Amino acid sequence: MTVLLTGGAGYIGSHVAVEMINAGFNVVIADNLSAGHKDVPERIKTLTGVSFPFFEIDICDKEAVRGIFDSFSVDAVVHAAGYKAVAESVSLPLKYYRNNTDGALTLLEVMAERGVKAFVFSSSATVYGIPDTVPIKETAHTGDCLNAYGRTKYIIEKILEDLCRSDPLFSAVPLRYFNPVGAHRSGLLGDDPIGVPNNLMPYILRVAAGRLPELNIFGNDYPTKDGTCIRDYIHVVDLAKGHTAAVDYAVKHSGYEVFNLGTGIGYSVLDMVRVFEKVTGRPLPYKFAPRREGDSAEYLADPSKAEKNLGWRAVLTIEDMCFDAQRYEGGKEQ
Ligand code: UD1
Repeated sequence: MTVLLTGGAGYIGSHVAVEMINAGFNVVIADNLSAGHKDVPERIKTLTGVSFPFFEIDICDKEAVRGIFDSFSVDAVVHAAGYKAVAESVSLPLKYYRNNTDGALTLLEVMAERGVKAFVFSSSATVYGIPDTVPIKETAHTGDCLNAYGRTKYIIEKILEDLCRSDPLFSAVPLRYFNPVGAHRSGLLGDDPIGVPNNLMPYILRVAAGRLPELNIFGNDYPTKDGTCIRDYIHVVDLAKGHTAAVDYAVKHSGYEVFNLGTGIGYSVLDMVRVFEKVTGRPLPYKFAPRREGDSAEYLADPSKAEKNLGWRAVLTIEDMCFDAQRYEGGKEQ
């Protein structure tokens, strides 16, 4: 089976590529390298021992996408390409709406032309907004997103729902990621955000490396066990394996089926600091800072639907996440 993977040079996509190749799929990668790194395709080849076609194209370029479908008999698409910087999406919403929805629409239009019916989409738990209750089930309310990035995910989910309604043979599987962290155990693939990171783990890594003075913990007065926010961190390799299961599911079913990808286990920011220090032996100076706008006290997946229908479950621990993230960062320091 041949799978077109968009965003395969990015953080999530590169790990998805490795797991799909290891699972025996023929993978074709498309990435414009706007965030991904030039040497990532080579690293994926080193890790898997498998060569694959790589297209440096923009998926908003319909002719370029058609070119891929002309060259390969694509059975399914995993769409992981998209802008993802939350803060930037607030200041440049049009950039996000244009790129993220255009990319998805272009792919879906070319798939319609060629009769390709299986689509797995990188969505985000951010579509739930501030949840009423945790753990969050897929049936929870969505749409009250707190930023343009989140709304692009929500809009694409709705486009996919409409498409499935119009074409009973089409299969769309959005995967709502909780908080992906960690890196490939080899140290060859990981997260490389540009500029000062917004997300917790990349920020921790910069502090541990001495490149930033201390971690600001946003809020210590939340109604949680230690006052800091609780999140469902998931190892990126577990998350990637969820995609291989989702592709299997998408090609065997039709209709719209959305899945949470999380562990169902919550850790506070202070838990994360302590585990990181223990696992890496690196001290992590921190101070408490005011709450960050848009944060909710607790975000936790109910991952039982994915376990039941996809036969997938996250198995890696918070220690694995910290260890692997630090190993990748350490590799970059050398
Ligand atoms: C954030 C985004 C979410 C996006 C996800 C991608 C917001 C409000 N949410 O989720 O839309 O899908 O990233 O991974 O931006 N923290 C600190 N200090 C820091 C950084 C973070 O204390 O320097 C805390 C946050 O308050 C939060 C936790 O760490 O409680 C995790 O933060 P982060 O990694 O940014 O993820 P989310 O906010 O859950």
